[in-house]
Amino acid sequence: MPTHDPAPLFDPVPTAAPAASLEIVEAECLEYLRTVPDGAFQLVYIDPPFNTGRRQTLARKKTTADPDGDRTGFGGRRYRTDVVSRNSYGDSFGDDYLEFLGPRLEQAIRVLDATGSLFVHLDPRESHYVKVHLDGLLGREHFMNEIIWSYDYGARAKRRWSSKHDVILWYARDPAAYTYRYGEIDRIPYMAPKLVGEEKAARGKTPTDVWWNTIVSPTGRERTGYPTQKPLTILERILRVHARPGDRVLDFFAGSGTTGAAAQILGLPCVLVDENPAAIEVMAARLASAQPRIQRPGGRPPAP
Ligand SMILES: C[S@@+](CC[C@H](N)C(=O)[O-])C[C@H]1O[C@@H](n2cnc3c(N)ncnc32)[C@H](O)[C@@H]1O
Repeated sequence: MPTHDPAPLFDPVPTAAPAASLEIVEAECLEYLRTVPDGAFQLVYIDPPFNTGRRQTLARKKTTADPDGDRTGFGGRRYRTDVVSRNSYGDSFGDDYLEFLGPRLEQAIRVLDATGSLFVHLDPRESHYVKVHLDGLLGREHFMNEIIWSYDYGARAKRRWSSKHDVILWYARDPAAYTYRYGEIDRIPYMAPKLVGEEKAARGKTPTDVWWNTIVSPTGRERTGYPTQKPLTILERILRVHARPGDRVLDFFAGSGTTGAAAQILGLPCVLVDENPAAIEVMAARLASAQPRIQRPGGRPPAP
């Protein structure tokens, strides 16, 4: 009797993908990662749920002129606000956060190429636990940077300093051989250009490990309507500096697909994984021009 291997959960990750190929996979990330060969990616960026203890929801609203509306706008006109769509995902792990993230971090390291880098995007509630955990998994000498993404938006706290930053931990698989393309770093203006001379001022300076960048504007074109969407400029900087042409990028908490959007701009092959069907819909629409290969359980197509 011939024997058959059980059907694989996902198509195997190609080892030599054509440049800028984009794959979107609807899957629980640990299940997906277990199917990926060792060293298949040069760059892994993840932005896991932050363990905020609440569901992350973003409602997309539309305002229409309506004489019976509940809001008064310019010139005394009345408006009505309707919620047209609502995207959300769970973000509550209690004290078990590392129990959830730990096995996924182990897999992230396993699927990294020998000269690859891991970026883990967190907030100050969990970043220290994750840093100690990664030091344990990889060794402290693999820790390269704690990047602070500082923004300035939204309400101000009245009983403590307003928390307006995220933490991005960078670990290198090999601290002696990793990708850091200094010449590709974007330049930012000097704070006191008059002190550095005209030529230097015109060239600008390289950013430090503190990155000042606004959040995705609630009314801007970049906005997808997916909660906790990260700015494209942050991902573009990471990918531009830490990936060489042809390097393969993985984001297995992909959300609205910001990593995929940056990979497309830079012409890098990329795999995006998320377990939330709503995220797959948003990514399929956002990245449609890249003609992504979309894998969903049972081969379901994304909604039109
Ligand atoms: C913080 S969001 C990512 C946002 C993304 N960086 C962006 O710019 O849109 C985290 C994502 O992880 C997904 N997620 C949570 N647990 C997951 C799991 N076990 N497997 C795959 N995806 C998961 C959620 O559905 C959510 O879309």
